[in-house]
Amino acid sequence: MCGIVGYIGQRDAVPLLLDGLSRLEYRGYDSAGIAVFDNGKLSIRKCVGRLTALEDQLQNDPVSGRPGIGHTRWATHGEPSQINSHPHTSDGGHIAVVHNGIIENYHELREALTADGFTFQSDTDTEVIPHLIARELKKGATSIEEAMRLALNQARGAYAIGVTVDTEPEAIYAARLGSPLIIGVGKNENFIASDVPAIINQVSQVIYLNDGEIAKLTQEGISITNLKGESVKPEIKEITIKAEAAEKAGFETFMLKEIHEQPRVLRGLLAKHVIDDKSVSMNDLGLSPDLFHILNRMIIVSCGTAYHAGMYGKLLLEHLTSIAVETDLASEFRYRDPKFGRDTLIIAVSQSGETADTLASIRMAKERGCKVLSICNVPGSSIARESDGVFFTEAGPEIGVASTKAYTAQLMAFALIGIFAARLREEMTQGEAEDLLQSLSAIPDAIHYVVDRKDEIKTIANKHHDGPSSLYLGRKFNFPTALEGALKNKEISYQHAEGYAAGEMKHGPIALINEYLPVICICTKTEDEVYEKMISNMKEVEARHGRIIAIATDGDEGVAGVAEDIIRVPEMRDEFSPLVNVVALQLLAYYAAQARGTDIDKPRNLAKSVTVE
Ligand code: M6R
Repeated sequence: MCGIVGYIGQRDAVPLLLDGLSRLEYRGYDSAGIAVFDNGKLSIRKCVGRLTALEDQLQNDPVSGRPGIGHTRWATHGEPSQINSHPHTSDGGHIAVVHNGIIENYHELREALTADGFTFQSDTDTEVIPHLIARELKKGATSIEEAMRLALNQARGAYAIGVTVDTEPEAIYAARLGSPLIIGVGKNENFIASDVPAIINQVSQVIYLNDGEIAKLTQEGISITNLKGESVKPEIKEITIKAEAAEKAGFETFMLKEIHEQPRVLRGLLAKHVIDDKSVSMNDLGLSPDLFHILNRMIIVSCGTAYHAGMYGKLLLEHLTSIAVETDLASEFRYRDPKFGRDTLIIAVSQSGETADTLASIRMAKERGCKVLSICNVPGSSIARESDGVFFTEAGPEIGVASTKAYTAQLMAFALIGIFAARLREEMTQGEAEDLLQSLSAIPDAIHYVVDRKDEIKTIANKHHDGPSSLYLGRKFNFPTALEGALKNKEISYQHAEGYAAGEMKHGPIALINEYLPVICICTKTEDEVYEKMISNMKEVEARHGRIIAIATDGDEGVAGVAEDIIRVPEMRDEFSPLVNVVALQLLAYYAAQARGTDIDKPRNLAKSVTVE
């Protein structure tokens, strides 16, 4: 949540800040602002609304200069408004700060600062930071870094901050605790940013700032200290993603591009982990394979779409291995009293690797001596760094706020981990593993098949998008698919949608069904009785005149008499059908959102990376 960019170098900071912010807008987009050193003083431009509003303001009231810091906001404390937009200042505008995170003790800090004569302009928690720095400078701190250190040692909560001070225009400063921040290392210029895509076309090397570190960036160099004032040796890393990966590549939205990328992403994972169609390799997991021998239990923790992936992971791992698996929402897990010991592996699933609740769950598990494996998309992210082992989903930057390719990559990760663990524990024969791997290898083409039929899905979406609500039903492996389909629909089309286990329908939601309610039924062929049960559930919907949209296997006529509309998918093994069925639902939600005229990549009130709890 919230995007930060900063620049120090010889170029005009303004276009660089705007370009960086445009690449970070997925992190928050209710207001934006910049602070630039211009003609001997800091000039601030900020406004409520999207970045385009700030660009318009800059057209009418231009500014240029260097260095500069910029921000795109997802409001936590204080409504989206001009006054609450970042940067926030102190000392008559001499110090400007942009912030991502929450200062939890801001109230008491604000009272103390007010008593010391500081005046607050905004309702934000952030504004205490420039005032704290100013107070420390007034009290005699001998450098900005020292003032920041003393100030930040008084703050509780999470922050990534960028700071510029007009008495020292040859430097910008940054610090982090619990919220992501990177430093882009250039030639005679340096950057700060919340995420790599913001500066991917400017630099090829980055430093991932660690929690509790303060960085001073000048044109020539970068120095880092910790909150005790000790100097820290920066570790410079090459950026591995390509600049084009963060572009729309001719697609109308990032989400549509990312839906189309799924076959390629899954092929990449199969190519990396499957050896000669016979076995699964987990060489670079970072965890000893022996762990899978001694495990009794796994707990999967995650949020949102990644939670649905965790639900699928539970079903699949229990199906393939003898390990007991639980799944929980990270925001619940961290506050309950779960009973688990060292024989439990915690699996954290997260696209961004920065989700606050998932990160807190990892820390809780580690405190109890458990090993943590994360399934994560972002190298260098907090979750990747704090886990004992990481399965990287390697889906490339996911910029659309609604998760698509990261989700199917997470499902593929569970499939590969499940086969790997089952073979290692001798709970699966070689022949069974080869059968499963053969079926998995067909998934990318099956997704292609669905994506190629997007026009048919669009027609169905256009027909059903305008009601107030919709219901998604699925069973067993496709119960999480139903939840995920409903989540996709509500987050981008704003149509209320509810996902349910079809067997639960009679216990309440059946009351919703009437001739107006679209009921999306995931009813692909299975080898057990679930398919027939699902047909029975659909009949119950039909009997109450619900409007059934079925996701059905190509050639299966069992649904034909029941469903009003059918989205066809290729025949697949039951266990892996969610990887394909969900793509049909992503497209259904996508075209419903398009028909409803929403901002698909940046749906209202959301942010891509939820770094506050
Ligand atoms: O980055 P994470 O996977 O940890 O994010 C978890 C959720 O915030 C995320 O999946 C969210 O639900 C998406 N907007 C869903 O499309």
